[in-house]
Amino acid sequence: MKKLSIVMAIMLFLLSTALMAQNKYVGAKNCKMCHMTKGKAYPVWEASKHAKALETLKSDAAKKIGAAKGIADPSTDAKCLKCHSTAAGVDAKLIAGITKEEGVSCETCHGAGSAYKAPAVMRNHDACVTNGLITPDEKMCLKCHNSESPTFKGFDYAKYSAKIAHKNPK
Ligand code: HEC
Ligand code: HEC
Ligand code: HEC
Ligand code: HEC
Repeated sequence: MKKLSIVMAIMLFLLSTALMAQNKYVGAKNCKMCHMTKGKAYPVWEASKHAKALETLKSDAAKKIGAAKGIADPSTDAKCLKCHSTAAGVDAKLIAGITKEEGVSCETCHGAGSAYKAPAVMRNHDACVTNGLITPDEKMCLKCHNSESPTFKGFDYAKYSAKIAHKNPK
């Protein structure tokens, strides 16, 4: 009996990870309608540098950094896009609304949203998690905020997370 429940647990785990692997990237515009108020997640993100990270790769500063590395156009090169655009790193099959232009978007930090964005799921934290929602922590930030970044100036989690804070008020 015990053995059977372990097998069942493993099967359920494999099934849920298989389902999660298919969650698609819907883009920030599909979070906007519900996240304008309370923690103001959408407007805070839209005003942040994350939302403009692709735009930054088109700047003269970016072109200069690129030129030194033999990269003609940083805004189309995977070596720069990997940290500056969520959509650019996503398998084409999983694109369902997200665009390259929205830069570092919600779903980089919170996971692909196609399954958890349904209102009934969103209101229930456990259901959110089962459907692929991630609650990001410092480790998430360090994937990009590290010395591989050509302009890295260090990373202080407390300071940086305060700059992008959009938690719902208690
Ligand atoms: C249909 C409305 C709706 C849409 C669309 C929606 N959300 Fe939500 N979301 C909610 C509601 C309602 C909650 C519950 C908390 C609250 O009242 O703000 C929530 C909660 C959350 C939470 C906290 C969940 C937890 O339990 O920790 C995150 C993170 C979140 N949403 C991100 C997103 C992202 C990213 C998208 C787009 C991919 C999105 N939401 C789309 C309505 C929505
Ligand atoms: C997918 C990569 C990625 C992840 C993950 C990421 N960031 Fe960023 N972040 C960037 C990029 C790229 C920029 C620069 C955007 C620009 O200037 O165009 C940036 C800029 C910022 C800035 C603005 C810094 C300034 O100079 O004003 C803050 C603050 C910030 N990030 C905080 C965070 C925090 C906190 C986390 C984790 C919760 C995080 N970031 C996760 C890529 C990322
Ligand atoms: C490992 C992730 C990563 C990679 C790869 C990356 N960047 Fe960035 N980039 C960042 C982060 C994070 C920031 C925000 C600066 C900070 O606060 O540390 C940033 C900021 C910038 C800025 C703004 C500089 C500033 O001082 O605000 C430019 C320009 C830039 N990156 C160009 C590029 C170019 C060009 C490439 C490709 C050659 C590239 N980046 C590759 C993570 C990355
Ligand atoms: C750079 C990473 C990053 C991006 C981009 C980002 N978030 Fe978040 N988000 C966080 C972090 C970190 C928290 C706080 C998590 C915690 O400690 O509870 C958070 C919290 C939230 C919460 C509140 C959860 C709560 O407990 O109150 C909501 C809702 C949310 N995000 C929605 C969004 C939406 C919608 C977008 C895009 C418009 C977005 N986020 C973009 C990192 C990010």
